[in-house]
This record gives sequence, structure tokens and C-alpha cells, in this order.
Amino acid sequence: MSTDDPAGRASRMPPETTPPRTAPPLTMPPRTARLMDLTRAAFCDPYEIVDWPESVGDDAQCLPDRLISIVDTGAFDALDRAGRRRLSLFECANLFSVLLHGEKAYVAGLAARIHEPATASHAEYLHALIDEENKHMYLFSQFCTRYAGGVYPDHGFPFPADGPKEETDLVFYAQALLMEEMFDHLNRAVVGDPSIDSTVRRIHQIHIDDEARHISFGRAHLEDLVERLAQTAGAGRLLAIGAYLDRYMTVMLERLANPRVYQDAGLDDAYALRRQALASEGVRSLHAAATVRSRGFLTKLGLVGPEQAA
Ligand SMILES: [Fe+2]
Ligand SMILES: [Fe+2]
Repeated sequence: MSTDDPAGRASRMPPETTPPRTAPPLTMPPRTARLMDLTRAAFCDPYEIVDWPESVGDDAQCLPDRLISIVDTGAFDALDRAGRRRLSLFECANLFSVLLHGEKAYVAGLAARIHEPATASHAEYLHALIDEENKHMYLFSQFCTRYAGGVYPDHGFPFPADGPKEETDLVFYAQALLMEEMFDHLNRAVVGDPSIDSTVRRIHQIHIDDEARHISFGRAHLEDLVERLAQTAGAGRLLAIGAYLDRYMTVMLERLANPRVYQDAGLDDAYALRRQALASEGVRSLHAAATVRSRGFLTKLGLVGPEQAA
């Protein structure tokens, strides 16, 4: 037994006879090196990048109507302008909270994987990506804390914990990418509406700019992982993973309909309202629009069959 570990565990130190390394230094793949250059150029101070006003949403909504979960219900029709502005503030805080908790889990999973052999050549960029996600979480939490009474609670993030490593890694990176792509759609819907509160649009724009690089990395990395897994797993296994990912997208988007938000906005029957919202055409069409790009990519990779993509 090793004597250098006080807990008595087997030492991970190599035996003394291990020859010195002769491998050439790792080089980043060109695409990742380009992303690293872009990341350096976009480097910012998260504590200075947003001018936080005393309040938000006094004269403007914090989300466009079509992103508000109950937009297609009678409860929304009954709200006056002030009521809609108040609801949009809490819906915005919930959107940031869902994203914050998702990024928190992503960062934890990335930190566990960084410098493994499969990601060693990307490690420098992954350090930068973790830094950027941490900045996003800071901005989201600042908004929620300053204007909405705090971050909404975490409902857990369903990253897979067991199974063959090549599959759990693939699902992990796929889930992160899908989250980034779905929320990118929502970020762009906010930024594209000039009537929305300017501080809110600023936060969404910062996120869009950084996530464009993350999505570029995520797509290329997922393609590599699927190609590798396809050498040993059959088409049925890939489709089973795709079905899991499809369900995951729905779960993430359904978190945007939060009864706590309705209660904070002073609405009655919050849980019934959530059921109505999730069954409404407005929410269904938003979910379809937020996932169409990702479904196309999963289909191209063989994770979704043509009939499921329709
Ligand atoms: Fe992010
Ligand atoms: Fe990201």
C-alpha cells in the first residue's frame, strides 16, 4: 500500500520505472484555436459590463408577450399594462434562473471532464468557456437579486450519471448544446424587440455574443462524439439517446412555466394556470420554434429519425 496517502487509498503516482514523456506538445484543433482567439478579443469585466439601474420594467416589459408562458390564457387577457409588466419581470427572472441552474450543472460537469484525454487538446478553450458561463451566472443572479427578490429555486438538472462513459459524455455535451441553442432562440427574441427594457436586452445580447462561440464548439465536439460512438453502437442506440434528448428539451422549456412566478405576479390558481399554459397553442409554438434548429442538427447526426423530426 502507498504510504503517501493518509486515507490509505491506492496512490495514483506512477511507478518509478515510468519512462519520461516523449510525446509532442498537444496542439489545439484549428477551429478551437480560432474560438480561443475570438474569446480573448471579447474578454470583459462582468462587474463593469452592465450599468445596473435602480429598477427595471417601470415603463417597459422585460419579455415580449410571445415569451410569456401564459400569453394564450384568459388570465393574461385580463391583465392591464401594469400587470403585464409585473408578470414579465418575474417571467424574465425565471428564465434567467432556469438558465443559471443549467449553466451551473454544465460548469460542474465540464470541470469534472477537463484535462481528460478526450478533451485535453481543447482544455485551454474549456477553461475560457467555464469563465464565460460563470460570468453569465453572475449577471443572471444580479438581475434576479436586484429586481425580483432572488434567484428562483433549482429543480435539478437531468444530466446522466451512469452508463458507459462514451455515452454519458455524449449526452452531457449534447444537453449543454441543446440548452445553449434553445435559450439562444429566446435571447434573440428579446433583443429583437426594441420595446423591451434596455437593461434586459443588454444582458440577453451579452449572452448571445458569448454563446455563438460555445454553440460553434458544442456542435463540432458533438459531431466528433457521435462519429466515435457510431463505430461501436447501432442506429437503435443512437435513436434511443436522441429520444432521451428530445424529452430533455421539453423538460427544460416547461420550466419556463413556473407557478411561483404566477404567485409573485399576484395571479390566482397558479398550478392550474401552469397546466393551461403548457397546453396552450402559444407555448407549443414557442417550444417548436426554440427547438427546430436543434432537431435539424440531431437528425443530421442520426440521433433523431426523419419521422421523429417531423
Ligand atoms: Fe451562458
Ligand atoms: Fe454556453
